[in-house]
Amino acid sequence: MDTLSLFSLKGKTALITGSGSGIGYALAEGLAGAGAKIILNGRNAEKLTTAKNTLRKKGFEITCLVFDVTDSAAVKMAVSEYEKEKGPIDILINNAGINIRGPFEDFKEEDWEKVLDTNIRGAMIVSQAVGKFMIKRKRGKIINICSMQSELGRPTIVPYTISKGGIKMLTKALCAEWAKYNIQVNGVGPGYFETELTKPLKDDPEFDKWLCNRTPANRWGKPRELIGAAVYLSSEAGDYVNGHILYVDGGLLASV
Ligand SMILES: NC(=O)c1ccc[n+]([C@@H]2O[C@H](COP(=O)([O-])OP(=O)(O)OC[C@H]3O[C@@H](n4cnc5c(N)ncnc54)[C@H](OP(=O)(O)O)[C@@H]3O)[C@@H](O)[C@H]2O)c1
Repeated sequence: MDTLSLFSLKGKTALITGSGSGIGYALAEGLAGAGAKIILNGRNAEKLTTAKNTLRKKGFEITCLVFDVTDSAAVKMAVSEYEKEKGPIDILINNAGINIRGPFEDFKEEDWEKVLDTNIRGAMIVSQAVGKFMIKRKRGKIINICSMQSELGRPTIVPYTISKGGIKMLTKALCAEWAKYNIQVNGVGPGYFETELTKPLKDDPEFDKWLCNRTPANRWGKPRELIGAAVYLSSEAGDYVNGHILYVDGGLLASV
């Protein structure tokens, strides 16, 4: 048996939201390396073009769809035009996410809405737009990017924590509803990875030291260390895995 072929994404197309940088970009490169055609997404066309050109130079097949995941009309139009003109989107990774930090007692309602809107409603909108086509085809893979905050609280990030708890439950609820269409909906839960999002934490020596002590692996994760989990859950190898959150966290959740 050619076991590695179970993990191949040859002939598949993956849409990864928020993939012009950070974890999304690493997953785009990783899934492309497993054979998938990649659709990059984000709000900043220039950033996406730079990412597209870099990945194309490595021999990968890359397209960009510029939209804000919270703009329902733009998402529906981009997804249906792609499906009509270029072909099926087989894999969706709901990765786009933001965080706004601040003490709960002073947290502004507008910031609360921004975080929940991007992290939860955005995933709902894109899953719905892509899922309608997956349902018709009776196959599809959806991966929601969760977090340590899908399980644990931390001061100053109450709305982010709620959003990541929500995305974990979106994963389970959608599995319950769409498994009958042969759609697998799973989550990948990163521990702490160095990106723009976590720069304020990485730049804080006290936090950096605390995190390394708190994490059994004794270090931050590298975005490429999330590729294995994402390829597994996107591929035939994960066909009977559904509603599961795979934490990639250097052991953080396993220890106190
Ligand atoms: N880094 C970590 O340690 C860590 C840990 C756990 C979970 N996560 C999760 O992993 C995901 C990626 O995080 P990251 O660390 O890679 O963050 P990042 O470097 O800030 O990247 C986030 C990406 O999302 C895009 N984005 C933000 N809002 C968007 C919107 N409304 N519509 C479309 N795209 C949008 C951004 O691009 P534009 O601004 O160009 O649109 C950016 O490329 C997030 O869901 C985050 O919660 C990260």
